[in-house]
Amino acid sequence: MARGKLVAGNWKMHGVAADLGEVNAISMAAETARIDVALCLPATLIERAVRAARGFAIGGQDVHQADKGAHTGCVSAAMLLDAGARLTIVGHSERREAQGESDADVKAKAEAALSAGLDVILCIGESDAVREAGHAVDTVCGQIDASLPESIADPARFSVAYEPIWAIGTGKVPSTDDIAEMHAALRGRLIHKFGEAGKLVRILYGGSVKASNAVEFFAVPDVDGALVGGASLNAADFVPIVEAASAQAS
Ligand code: PGA
Repeated sequence: MARGKLVAGNWKMHGVAADLGEVNAISMAAETARIDVALCLPATLIERAVRAARGFAIGGQDVHQADKGAHTGCVSAAMLLDAGARLTIVGHSERREAQGESDADVKAKAEAALSAGLDVILCIGESDAVREAGHAVDTVCGQIDASLPESIADPARFSVAYEPIWAIGTGKVPSTDDIAEMHAALRGRLIHKFGEAGKLVRILYGGSVKASNAVEFFAVPDVDGALVGGASLNAADFVPIVEAASAQAS
């Protein structure tokens, strides 16, 4: 069974009701695309975006590992599902850095989301200093080993996103050789952990993905799609990335 591509947008802390027109416009492309498309939105927009989205999934950007409780400001998997979300990001580097989330936290979040019925995109990636020191592959493999859920019932519902921190929002990107090296190493870790199912988990690339570089990234072996930040905020930038992935779908 082949892995179909997934192009997911991450709006981060952007978007109010006035921006829902972009969701509508993205729907038009998503409906005809031969790949999976998703938009991970601020929690405040999810329910309204679900009504505007046709042919693709709306998701959250984070989830708490507990079902409910005294966790001011947090959102549970059940709450995301209740709002109509079908997936969530966990372990984005902005949360690992600013909210101090550890690999163990990220693992617990992934497990909570999957068992509640949300699909998951689990993010990992190295800093500039780690890349410069020549430890990128070892560090990111250590991160994935410590962040992966214990088991995955359906590998099609779980994706990993390799996002070098220094490439996020900077316009800098790794070489396709570096991406290929990292994705091959990550595939090895997924197979080590999940056996045959590890071959079916999608590995996305994220970090300054644009229409101008997407075609090149999608041609790299083991790049099964993209997690897109800035270029997902409007249809004019995001749709060409969706189309680039769709054009390469067999
Ligand atoms: P970017 O963000 O596309 O704006 O670099 C990617 C991400 O943080 O997921």
